[in-house]
Amino acid sequence: MFESLQAVPADAILGLIAEHRDDPRPNKIDLGVGVYRTAEGLTPVLSTVKKAEHRLVGTQSSKTYIGTAGDATFNHAMQTLTFAGAVSNDRLVTIQTPGGSGSLRVAAAVLLRARKNATVWASEPTWANHVPLLGGAGLQLKPYPYYDTQNHVIQIDAMLEALRAAPKGDIVLLHACCHNPSGLDPSEEEWQAITDVIVDRELLPFIDSAYQGFGRGVEDDAFAVRHIAARVPEMVVATSCSKNFGLYRDRVGTLSFLSADAATQAVVSSQVNNCVRTLYSVPPDHGAAVVSIILNDEQLRAEWLDEVSEMRSRLQNMRVLLNDALIEKTPDNDFSHLVRANGMFCFLGISAEQVATLKQDFGIYMVDSSRINVAGVTADNVGYLSDSIAAVV
Ligand code: LMR
Repeated sequence: MFESLQAVPADAILGLIAEHRDDPRPNKIDLGVGVYRTAEGLTPVLSTVKKAEHRLVGTQSSKTYIGTAGDATFNHAMQTLTFAGAVSNDRLVTIQTPGGSGSLRVAAAVLLRARKNATVWASEPTWANHVPLLGGAGLQLKPYPYYDTQNHVIQIDAMLEALRAAPKGDIVLLHACCHNPSGLDPSEEEWQAITDVIVDRELLPFIDSAYQGFGRGVEDDAFAVRHIAARVPEMVVATSCSKNFGLYRDRVGTLSFLSADAATQAVVSSQVNNCVRTLYSVPPDHGAAVVSIILNDEQLRAEWLDEVSEMRSRLQNMRVLLNDALIEKTPDNDFSHLVRANGMFCFLGISAEQVATLKQDFGIYMVDSSRINVAGVTADNVGYLSDSIAAVV
């Protein structure tokens, strides 16, 4: 049977991990997959995670199954972190999921049950796995304009126009903050205008929140979710703890559904839990138990906020460092959009051929679209990096 299968290419983002690892050049640089790195190029376990893990190991008394919805203390803490009381709890159901991707996959299953023929409108461009993941689950996706590749700004008017033309009842996929891959987020006024269209056209907002805390701060980065939640009857929010808790491999996230009223919420909740049972039965426990300990302990929570703030500052500083170096090395090219973007990513704004040359001749790895993860920039490598970019542009 398996002879009928054909090999598929390595994933555009995850494939870079192995390519970079296997490159013997000592001055190679990884600007590919979205993981945070320190000034030393490491992705350490957060200190609050270590402390919570010690506590967990000392107190955990059973490894029996948790239910399909996961740990209620985690779900409650994450719901508060995401919505902060923007809507009444009896309209919300939040479950623990295996990372943000697991959350998106369960969301797709529920959305397909709710409205099989709805189209999901996704920003052009969007996270490279959004279309395969949601499309693979059976949803239909169409793009709305988002990033102006010439001027490195959001095409807000074109985006609003496209959403205005979407049929009532369609789904709009939005990035809560730190848009992946462009790093450009709507301003608060622009979010209000987007919400006006969503309300007017009766569209269902489906928000992917994978970088809360990496843009402007944990509270500010929740603006879009909370603003939209307060104005719509229904919405879907997927969150990830991969980045802000550094729990990438432990697979921790949530999925929330906001319903028009408590009675509908009960029905939605039963459907969500039934979808989980048919996909992976119950979520993994460890990472969510760690997050629950951190968020429910005043001292650990404060320390965690400091750790997030430190990561955020480093990302912002590396943007400035790289832009300054590029101004010096290649003054005729404008890279100022690097410092206008938020979070881990932005486009360098070079061609796929130039990306390939950087990889081949200089050992510098980034996604073909020229998306870079600024966490890969350090004070030690910025000279070599900017010289290499200057050599190809
Ligand atoms: C990324 O975009 O690099 C991250 O979200 C990691 C991933 O799974 O693609």
